[in-house]
Amino acid sequence: MKIPEWVKIGKNYDIDEGAIVGYKPSRNVPSLETIIGENARIRSGAVIYAGSRVGDNLETGHGVVIREESVIGDNFSIWNNSTVDYGCKIGNNVKIHCNCYIAQFTTIEDDTFFAPGVVVANDPHPVCTKCMKGPTIKKGARIGINATLLPHIVIGEYSLVGAGSVVTKGVPPKTVACGNPAKVVKSIDELKCPLGLVDNPYKNGRDFLSRELDLKNQQYFSPNWMDSFPPKFT
Ligand SMILES: CC(C)(COP(=O)(O)OP(=O)(O)OC[C@H]1O[C@@H](n2cnc3c(N)ncnc32)[C@H](O)[C@@H]1OP(=O)(O)O)[C@@H](O)C(=O)NCCC(=O)NCCS
Repeated sequence: MKIPEWVKIGKNYDIDEGAIVGYKPSRNVPSLETIIGENARIRSGAVIYAGSRVGDNLETGHGVVIREESVIGDNFSIWNNSTVDYGCKIGNNVKIHCNCYIAQFTTIEDDTFFAPGVVVANDPHPVCTKCMKGPTIKKGARIGINATLLPHIVIGEYSLVGAGSVVTKGVPPKTVACGNPAKVVKSIDELKCPLGLVDNPYKNGRDFLSRELDLKNQQYFSPNWMDSFPPKFT
């Protein structure tokens, strides 16, 4: 595609035919300037509206929409048919799976994960634009498949929202909440792997994969890292 002059995009981008960057919104925005960092991979059918900023290593699936006036960090992955509505703030290393809807004025912190079909609301008594504010999803939180998050609530750091839950109130940090309405059922570190593959899926709220990465990085920088290789993750 031809990149419009109001779009500033970093090097090594790969944009499919049929994707659009810098699409002009019908809402008035203070500036059309659109910034996308380096190494962007934008697949066919994706539309990034003018007036948003995204960091390095953006990766979209097909049919993704990122609306205007959103500010998004580095390493953002967003998969097929998901929408980030206008005015959202999204941190670094955020993964949003397929068929998700993130309502206007939602705040999503670093290292969070949204499973397929998560829906985020922002208007307690629709239609009212005065109190429109999405929830805040704090660092490292994970939202299970097909969950619904209601407006204004806070999903605490490293917490987990169960599949299909309707979350009507805040979820404390490092807890598991599920059901409709969602209730806290345990602390995140109490979860067990039903297949017994790992003793603790979460330790201090951190999942197995991020613990593994931490360990590898430590070993890389330690002179004796080979002594404890391969690492044991229990
Ligand atoms: C919430 C969750 C973490 C609970 O895990 P757990 O504590 O190991 O749960 P268990 O399987 O031991 O079930 C404990 C009880 O909670 C209930 N329960 C489990 N998940 C539930 C959910 N999402 N909503 C409502 N109730 C749930 C079970 O039916 C069971 O009830 P019972 O005691 O009356 O029989 C898990 O079921 C879940 O939803 N994980 C998220 C999966 C997901 O979305 N992954 C994304 C993949 S892309």
